[in-house]
Amino acid sequence: MTQRRLFVTTALPYANGNFHIGHIMEYIQADIWVRYQRMKGEEVHFVCADDAHGAPIMIAAEKAGITPQAFVANIAAGRKPYLDGFNIAFDNWHSTDGPENHELAQGIYRSLRDAGFIATKTIEQFFDPEKNMFLPDRFIKGDCPKCGAKDQYGDSCESCGAVYAPTDLKNPYSALSGATPVMKSSEHYFFKLSDPRCVAFLEAWTHADGHLQPEVLNKIKEWFAKSEDGTGGLSDWDISRDAPYFGIEIPDAPGKYFYVWLDAPIGYLASLKNHFGKIGKDFDAFMADPATEQHHFIGKDITYFHTLFWPAMLHFSGRKTPNAVHVHGFLTVSGEKMSKSRGTGLDPLKYLKLGMNPDWLRYYIAAKLNGRNEDVDFNAEDFMARVNSDLVGKFVNIASRTAGFINKRFAGELGTVGAEDQALLEQLKTALTPVTAMYESLDYARALREIMTQTDRVNEYVAHHKPWELAKQPDANERLQAVCTTSIEAFRLLSIALKPVMPALTAGIEAFLQVRPFVFSDLSTILGAGHTIGGYQHLMQRVDATQLDALFEAAEPTVPETTAIATPGGEALAPTITIDDFAKIDLRIACIVNCEPVEGSTKLLRLTLDVGEAQTRNVFSGIASAYQPSDLIGKYTLMVANLAPRKMKFGVSEGMVLAGSHADEKANPGIYILQPWPGAKPGMRVR
Ligand code: 2FM
Ligand code: ZN
Repeated sequence: MTQRRLFVTTALPYANGNFHIGHIMEYIQADIWVRYQRMKGEEVHFVCADDAHGAPIMIAAEKAGITPQAFVANIAAGRKPYLDGFNIAFDNWHSTDGPENHELAQGIYRSLRDAGFIATKTIEQFFDPEKNMFLPDRFIKGDCPKCGAKDQYGDSCESCGAVYAPTDLKNPYSALSGATPVMKSSEHYFFKLSDPRCVAFLEAWTHADGHLQPEVLNKIKEWFAKSEDGTGGLSDWDISRDAPYFGIEIPDAPGKYFYVWLDAPIGYLASLKNHFGKIGKDFDAFMADPATEQHHFIGKDITYFHTLFWPAMLHFSGRKTPNAVHVHGFLTVSGEKMSKSRGTGLDPLKYLKLGMNPDWLRYYIAAKLNGRNEDVDFNAEDFMARVNSDLVGKFVNIASRTAGFINKRFAGELGTVGAEDQALLEQLKTALTPVTAMYESLDYARALREIMTQTDRVNEYVAHHKPWELAKQPDANERLQAVCTTSIEAFRLLSIALKPVMPALTAGIEAFLQVRPFVFSDLSTILGAGHTIGGYQHLMQRVDATQLDALFEAAEPTVPETTAIATPGGEALAPTITIDDFAKIDLRIACIVNCEPVEGSTKLLRLTLDVGEAQTRNVFSGIASAYQPSDLIGKYTLMVANLAPRKMKFGVSEGMVLAGSHADEKANPGIYILQPWPGAKPGMRVR
């Protein structure tokens, strides 16, 4: 079979805020598909970028007192901990403000114009006479024309739900300056979506096999439909905005910029081009190759842009059109809808900071995605039940009940699988092979159901043969090795099938089995007698209810997003406190009189601290990765001396020593404890 060549993208997030769980869900959906393709040996280029342009970002940057470029760069700097944390394997992350996008957008526009798809029209719009700019609908407010509610946006009323034009508002005012807007006319550029050539092309493209899901096509048919009076159908698209605007200049049209939605999808191409520049691959040749497949993953709210404007722009500028646009639904949390700017109560970074396993979330989300554009709900109890029962109780359980015997009794060596055990492995291979097709069609829910059904079978096998009883019988050694070998072989087959969903867990399994990274063709093989496995260490913890409580605990009020863009040390500053708040924390100079490792913990050191009191204090500190006990004995440091004593697994901790570290410790490792200048004495207060 020839290798497929895939160009895969997720929607480009606006560079005006951090990721919320909706972004992460989309990235997980696409990442699973990409990992599946890579496991089949296909060539995949998986890219994304920040959607940098538009009035809201320009205005937010102005408020923050920085350039839009600096604003976008700050947001971009915060992306890595999320992507690394959830193991999203993008090959490249770029920006729609990059030079490639300027060049590509202007080039595509010129081609469209030369082919007769651009028209101009003079339109009237609200203009802010103080700010000297046309106002986007979101920045015009006033009284609702229906119910009279005050301070409603220019497009709809949050009080009575009425939808209207900004010009319908009573007492309109500019949300930027407070000034009363005036009507002003300006020439705008339009993409002629209503051109019969365009309509004919889109009719064909949207109906072509594999381009769209059936439910998406149904929606699009409504957009095509004209009513009896001839109105409706596709209308031309306003693609220009007047200066001042943060965007790409329209060629030969001074003071005019592309509307952000024109250059945003072109950013897919720009990110790929930027990536190819880095790896020395020919972008034009790749995109001109009819064998190249272009796949976009998006949310249902941006279907119109991706299934009408985008294919039409590409086609009529002489470029390749998408092979598929994969549309997913929204993510709700306990049934609650997400706000586009604030997300939901499930903060993905908090999830990671709490030490929750990224594979838990990947598994849970995958188990709910079926390739249709239905909404997906995250429910904390359901999450805990599924992860604990499927992954820990069923899947990992197979290895934890059998690997120990192979290690202890057979020096890690697998034995021969008996004829009666062979049937189980054959059945697994037969059942797991079609799972690849389920990944292909994005029906991960079905793939995981099938894998879990097979996991149940394997557990039944283990329960039936009871290796723990065989281990007690003096003459059952050979049988014990065969049963445990069969279980480990079965566990390996299940792991191969699960790998696209859970890359971190399966990397641990590859290490434990001492094998090279799994690929799908491994499903037709077994490890075989004589293969040696490594020592078994527990592969996955259970979800603890207290973690979920902490995850959904109401956050402290934080600095508003627009001003909290600087992320020194990888995190925004905590909310401002008063000097009285600070005085509540009693910081003291402490001498580390003893320090030792903590048995059973790789993270903690036990410190004995002299704080100038009659007795020393016992403090546990998570600095074992950075210091040897001998480095610290006799050194002076700083401690929080009035922290309530905390009972830990290894004893009571009577305070806390202070240390600096980056928020993303994985990407920026290092923990640095503080040392006072010479002369400081134990017990001195730090103020
Ligand atoms: O809706 C959004 O968040 C947009 N920033 C998506 C853009 S997708 C692509 F066209 F760039
Ligand atoms: Zn109203």
